[in-house]
Amino acid sequence: MSPTTTAQTPTGPGAAPAPRPVLAGIPAYVPKPPAPPAEGPSHRLFLNENPYPPLPSVAETLARAATEAHLYPTIQPERLTHALARRLDVPPAHLVTGPGSVGIYQQIGQALLEPGDEVVYAWTSFEAYPIVTRMAGAVPVEVPLAGGVHDLDAMAAAIGPRTRAVLLCEPNNPTGTAVGAARLERFLDRVPGDVLVVLDEAYFEFHRSPDAADGVALYRERPNLVTLRTFSKAYGLAGMRVGYAVAQAPIAEALRKCAVPCGVGRLAEEAALTALEVEGELLERVERIVAERERTREALLGLGWEVLPSETNFLWLPAGRDAERVAAGWERRGLLVRAFPDEGLRVTVGTPEANDLLLTAAKETVPPAR
Ligand SMILES: Cc1ncc(COP(=O)(O)O)c(C=O)c1O
Repeated sequence: MSPTTTAQTPTGPGAAPAPRPVLAGIPAYVPKPPAPPAEGPSHRLFLNENPYPPLPSVAETLARAATEAHLYPTIQPERLTHALARRLDVPPAHLVTGPGSVGIYQQIGQALLEPGDEVVYAWTSFEAYPIVTRMAGAVPVEVPLAGGVHDLDAMAAAIGPRTRAVLLCEPNNPTGTAVGAARLERFLDRVPGDVLVVLDEAYFEFHRSPDAADGVALYRERPNLVTLRTFSKAYGLAGMRVGYAVAQAPIAEALRKCAVPCGVGRLAEEAALTALEVEGELLERVERIVAERERTREALLGLGWEVLPSETNFLWLPAGRDAERVAAGWERRGLLVRAFPDEGLRVTVGTPEANDLLLTAAKETVPPAR
């Protein structure tokens, strides 16, 4: 071995394997020390969580399932797959499950993306999109939102010969806006059949417009569509990590091949099964959250804040350069919201008490200049 080679590739004690170069473009996750307990009550309005704890029936299921925590789950959650198939009226072979829908994104990356493929998505949108794309060695093609809404014409124009996938967040995180079924279908008609479209419907249950798209209806006629949903938001099981996708058999089978074996744990599967059984009660909570969303938005508008219409469980305040200042001030009052520097604030709709506190804070804060 030449001296030069030795210098570039250290061997022996102290040498470490080099991670794949694409990981250099992905933010590092550094575990933080546990935060000291907050002084006074604080409200988590920064992760679009459901503010309500599990229903007693779900908590009882979890307690019962905990006594079997020494047993492996099935390789993929078979009972949940069949229950979802019945609920959605789709063949079980069209279902994919994963540890949250973010888990399924990784399966999509492994199953469909090759280095150098292009992935088109709007920006700003769900922050996992650039990570999943880069992790696969694929190239992000980010298409700016227009007024906080997907610019579907610009996205269609961004699709080229190297495009392998389009990621579409409907309604969009973080802006809360939706394009609706009619525009979405016109866009889907423009996407070549060999380009995968991932329709991310994490907030589907909160969408109230009469023109709301339904990916589970759309995928039946479209072999290139994958619809993603989750138990994390409307079903209030973010801590359990269960998401699912619906796609026609060839894509669904490819995604199931890339699932982490036993990636949905026993407790997670049992909790999701019970949540489906008591879905009516959970969807009543969703109604309450939607009503609170509208009440809070109207009140913020009345106070002079700009707030986009939302079809999700959060509100987007385009506060621009003031975003971080406002978030820091509200944090001191126990309201933990998410600032997107120089863009805006994403505020989860919380309990009525948390939303009232937010309104008090908003009243006592100077709104950003428009
Ligand atoms: C658009 C979107 N997709 C997916 C997810 C992830 O959900 P899960 O908890 O199922 O991984 C989120 C979470 O915030 C989201 O906003």
